Amino acid sequence: MDKILITGGAGYIGSHTAVALVNAGYQPIIIDDFSNSNKSALNGLQQILGTDLPCYEGDCNDKKLMQQIFSDHELTGVIHFAANKAVGESTAFPLKYYKNNVGSLVVLLETMEEFGVKDLVFSSSCTVYGQPDELPVKETTPRKVAESPYGNTKKICEDILIDVVKSGASIRIISLRYFNPIGAHESSLIGELPLGVPANLVPFVTQTGIGLREKLTVHGNDYDTPDGTCIRDYIHVMDLADAHVKSIDYLQDKPETYYDLFNVGTGNGNTVLEVIQAFEKVSGKPLNYHIGPRRPGDVVKVWADTQKIEEKLGWKPNYSLEDALRDSWNWQLALAEK
Ligand code: WQD
Repeated sequence: MDKILITGGAGYIGSHTAVALVNAGYQPIIIDDFSNSNKSALNGLQQILGTDLPCYEGDCNDKKLMQQIFSDHELTGVIHFAANKAVGESTAFPLKYYKNNVGSLVVLLETMEEFGVKDLVFSSSCTVYGQPDELPVKETTPRKVAESPYGNTKKICEDILIDVVKSGASIRIISLRYFNPIGAHESSLIGELPLGVPANLVPFVTQTGIGLREKLTVHGNDYDTPDGTCIRDYIHVMDLADAHVKSIDYLQDKPETYYDLFNVGTGNGNTVLEVIQAFEKVSGKPLNYHIGPRRPGDVVKVWADTQKIEEKLGWKPNYSLEDALRDSWNWQLALAEK
């Protein structure tokens, strides 16, 4: 059974990708420092999969630990999620983001080269486009100057990967530029676990819906959009997980040295108010919200052109916005039962 190392594998997208990998016949191996995830995710995975996944607690910057993992397991490939991802925090603590997000990728690449592991799927982000020059966004749409150190680490990491491939290294890489991941596994046994006050929209919505938050603040309704609120491409985390499996599959017959990148979104954009309306529909309850000031750094509208990933990877989204919000809400309800 082909073994795939998932860095950050106890995290939101990592844990859902572990399920998708097992369902596709792969054996995931997890490394996670649990700085932005919880060991309860491992219990959820055990209940879904009926087996414990090998998990190493530690930091991808720890070269000796990475060498130990690569020595313990003959890996087919790696999916690299492990990174800090809070836009606001990155502005306050840039060095933490450069050291962790960029540093851990360099350590991973060195270790892959040392052990002859060739296949890598990298977690990138639509944030590299900033406010795109064109909509929907294509992979050829120019990247913009990053709005945050977090976004800059994603651009730098993409450039590192391209330079390694240009050097002729024996490595095959796909970068996936995520749009806005939401939702949870249908079992409600794993899902998003934001630490503290959620920065992202959907967890704040579901926490408001269940009464953990008093009300949602909509960050501005005076933008140039149909209802004045920002537009994003919200993609179900299980659709996103599937894109990672299809990327690993796709790399299996590629040349010794290979790089490609794909947008991973639904191809549809929804406003904040449309998300609220969809949530009220699936939860059957009104959401307490008010309109507040714009949030600095927010892109007004961004959604993906998905033609390339559909044609080359044979991937397409299976879940709707309502499906994702229903799964997010069911997950929030399950958390309240714990
Ligand atoms: C979505 C929309 C907010 C919260 C960020 C990162 C991106 C990725 C996903 C890591 C915006 C509005 C939000 C709230 C609101 N992270 N909103 N009230 O900013 O598109 O993307 O998270 O990969 O890289 O940049 O996602 O969910 O924070 O915001 O009105 O309480 O919801 O203004 O328009 P974003 P988000």
